[in-house]
Amino acid sequence: MQQWDVIVIGGGAAGLMCAATAGYRGRRVLVVDHANKVGKKILMSGGGRCNFTNLYVEPSNFISQNPHFCKSALSRFNQWNFLDMVERHKIAHHEKTAGQLFCDNKANDILQMLLRECESAGVTVKTHTSVTSITREQNYTLTTSQGQLCADSLVVATGGLSIPTMGATGYGYDIAKQFGLQVLSTEPSLVPFTLSGKWLEQAAELAGVSLPVTISTERQSFNESMLFTHRGISGPAVLQASNYWFLGEKITINFLPKLDLTEQIVEWQKHTPKQELKTLLSQLMPKRFVSVWLTLAAENKTIANYSKAEIQTLQQHFQQFRLTPSGTEGYRTAEVTRGGVNTDGVSSKTFEAKQVPGLYFIGEVLDVTGWLGGFNFQWAWASGYCAGQYV
Ligand code: FDA
Repeated sequence: MQQWDVIVIGGGAAGLMCAATAGYRGRRVLVVDHANKVGKKILMSGGGRCNFTNLYVEPSNFISQNPHFCKSALSRFNQWNFLDMVERHKIAHHEKTAGQLFCDNKANDILQMLLRECESAGVTVKTHTSVTSITREQNYTLTTSQGQLCADSLVVATGGLSIPTMGATGYGYDIAKQFGLQVLSTEPSLVPFTLSGKWLEQAAELAGVSLPVTISTERQSFNESMLFTHRGISGPAVLQASNYWFLGEKITINFLPKLDLTEQIVEWQKHTPKQELKTLLSQLMPKRFVSVWLTLAAENKTIANYSKAEIQTLQQHFQQFRLTPSGTEGYRTAEVTRGGVNTDGVSSKTFEAKQVPGLYFIGEVLDVTGWLGGFNFQWAWASGYCAGQYV
């Protein structure tokens, strides 16, 4: 049986970072992954350019039953620490928007960087290796498709459930339950909303139209762009809102986030009374959107002819539009999984299970979910690095 100091299950962002960090400490580290190659999500991330971190990471960019859990790791390995590594490896990068850092070339630059770090740290990486059972006596014994493996420390870095075709499994949750840790309910997150009935028809008619909006859930608002699709609504504002949304809840959309439509109409009535509303609104929003959306609330006429009551209806329709999504697109397209291993059972310093010495949980398998914009990778790097100091 092969004996290791540390076995990491899952060669994704968190697992590779943890493995390299532990390897540099002189630990004999093996990474096992059931997929045919490691880091598949890194490769597909950020539209192939990997939004690898964000310049403005704050604990408030993360959702968890325990909002304090992420603080320690995020401060011990922050965005600047990761950026140092990126710059040491001479990976060309740029800020796209709101602090989001992307590779200039390909996401593969980030994966190759992690694999070079693992190689320098003496880490062994085995793909095509499925773990079928784990037992713990003095140490951990894993039965795998490649034979039995043994280690003093076992790191669970199997990620969340999103994109099963990329190798995502719930195995990390099974391990947590086997060793007595609680797993909080999981949901697809950073995911488009689906609509049904009348609103689905409207969305489908507008498929392809994108516009800046504010979307508010009961807990949080986001100013970003929104896209109509054949199944519902998507785009950054929608994905961000999905992190804070629960089935059956309403969302509120402001299609004119930068002005007060009531005041604007009064201004138009004073200065351009003979213009039609549709023409005026089309100066502020995409024409195709205005044509469809205006018809749903009011008839188009010259701006001087709108009554106070009609203006109020328009204001509600364009600025406080309430909608109940019928659901989400699910794990098939979700970028992350909300929920997971309850952080109450895990040390925020070492990432070791409090009641199970030698067992560690890092990355997305934990109940820590970041906003869109490089935050989920920063969590993977930070938790992986911090655990790597102790495994
Ligand atoms: P990750 O999912 O990276 O790795 C888990 C590994 O475990 C995989 O290699 C998997 O094969 C392996 N595994 C699973 N089950 C196993 C088992 N039973 N046995 C052995 N191995 C097993 N985030 C961000 O910050 N910026 C971005 O640009 C993007 N973009 C993006 C696009 C898309 C399409 C998706 C789906 C996701 C993103 N994300 C993102 C989110 C980001 O990819 C994600 O949060 C991190 O990859 C999580 O890192 P982990 O290492 O925890 O899991």
